[in-house]
Amino acid sequence: MQHKRAITFALCVCVAAIGVLPASAGTDAAQSPAASATSDDPTAKEGASLFNQYCSHCHGPWAEQGERPRDLRRLRIRYGDEAREMFSTTVTNGRLEKGMPVWKGVLSDEVLGKIYAFLETVQVED
Ligand code: HEC
Repeated sequence: MQHKRAITFALCVCVAAIGVLPASAGTDAAQSPAASATSDDPTAKEGASLFNQYCSHCHGPWAEQGERPRDLRRLRIRYGDEAREMFSTTVTNGRLEKGMPVWKGVLSDEVLGKIYAFLETVQVED
């Protein structure tokens, strides 16, 4: 399992390098600030790993993503107190016309809750 994840992650970094992300975002992911930000909270840490497994090929490893509509570090700025609700709605229904898949029935509420806990640790101020 660990091995499989490592391969998945390597693939993501490759995709990042060929231009889905600015090349710099795909490098040194293991030393990302997000990695240290989540290191104290086991739920967020687990969420980071789940995020990197399921979401990172579109939203960037550790949620580092340069395209604003997909930058999940900006949920607090964009949605404020509604962020949690918007997250639930979006992952439940997807935004298929924009390329965001439906996750209901694929990932449990528990898994999605952990991913959200991780995202809370990487929100930016501006
Ligand atoms: C196949 C690509 C893809 C994958 C995989 C993916 N997403 Fe998305 N997601 C998108 C796109 C594209 C958007 C932007 C939609 C738009 O422009 O409104 C998006 C938008 C979102 C938004 C709303 C962002 C905002 O600011 O409005 C959330 C929340 C989100 N995704 C969560 C997730 C989570 C959690 C996962 C992993 C479980 C995930 N996504 C996996 C493509 C993806």
